[in-house]
Amino acid sequence: MDFRDVTQDLKSDMAKVEKAINENYKSDVPLIPGISSYLMSCGGKRIRPMLTLLAAKLCGRDTDEIVVKHGCVVEYIHAATLLHDDVVDETTVRRGKETVNAKWGSDASILVGDFLISRAILILAEDCERKIIQAITEATKILVEGGILEYAEARKIKVNEKHILDVIYRKTASILSVSARLGGLLANATEQQETAIISFGDDFGMAFQLMDDALDYDADEKVLGKPTGTDFKEGHVTLPLHHLYHNADRGLKKEIEGFIKNENIGTKEVQYIVGHMHKHKSIDYTLNLARYYIDRAKSHLRKADFPEPKYIEYFDAVADYIHSRHTSPSSPAVVK
Ligand code: FPP
Ligand code: MG
Repeated sequence: MDFRDVTQDLKSDMAKVEKAINENYKSDVPLIPGISSYLMSCGGKRIRPMLTLLAAKLCGRDTDEIVVKHGCVVEYIHAATLLHDDVVDETTVRRGKETVNAKWGSDASILVGDFLISRAILILAEDCERKIIQAITEATKILVEGGILEYAEARKIKVNEKHILDVIYRKTASILSVSARLGGLLANATEQQETAIISFGDDFGMAFQLMDDALDYDADEKVLGKPTGTDFKEGHVTLPLHHLYHNADRGLKKEIEGFIKNENIGTKEVQYIVGHMHKHKSIDYTLNLARYYIDRAKSHLRKADFPEPKYIEYFDAVADYIHSRHTSPSSPAVVK
């Protein structure tokens, strides 16, 4: 089974999620549906709701209305983070399209992000499930901490690997993990099942962001949906750059220190750095760590007994797909 089989199998369920996503941003304030429909039509593989549905299925609950609306909740929170992140990063292109901040301005991007978060909370309030509300708000708090931590440490080349992995856990793994966890909670997962699902989500999330960070330097721009080297230009010290810096000679170290402080980095400098990354195997180092997390993620699901174990294979396929984004040109990289 590969990712295409998963999407094929979940087609009608995911169509229900898509419908909920497009119905729940209705508002009599025209800018809200205007921006939301643009954003939601820009693509994205809906990985988070997919994890919610799959975890619910794994624990014996099929895709009913409640599962669908929790899929919508995690996608709204994710969409809000991107709306805010693109303002912070001053990003102008995402998923091959102009970002909302580039098209409507930063204020609109922030405010519609706020609307989507409020809407997500309102959907959660309909059922008032304490465990679910606690899980998702805790993950969102961690996610925001990740965003703030990354912002606070931008353009600092001397951050260590532990810090880089901590930011990744907070800003990306937290929401991916809770997306899967919600499915388990909705299906009344046992503690053993919930632990396995959370551990899968944590490691899958780590791999997901590491792949994103490797692809940021080493992907076809058309496939990536944005220019390469964006992290470098924005001053984000991700693992490929950290690895290069620590393996560079004194001359190159000095050059990197200069580049990372410079807010006007161009394609020439990016290409120069990418060349060194290949020479020092910094991309490979990042890809290998992502592979390690993917394999560990898959192993967690083997540690619990599930009512519908056939869905473990679906999780495997989603996890492997994340890594194939680097190697397979047929796998679109634009999944965020
Ligand atoms: C994308 O990372 C950014 C995130 C995953 C989260 C950042 C978090 C915030 C900005 C806080 C906002 C939170 C809420 C709840 C509104 P990236 O910049 O590495 O990815 P990219 O290249 O796709 O932009
Ligand atoms: Mg960004």
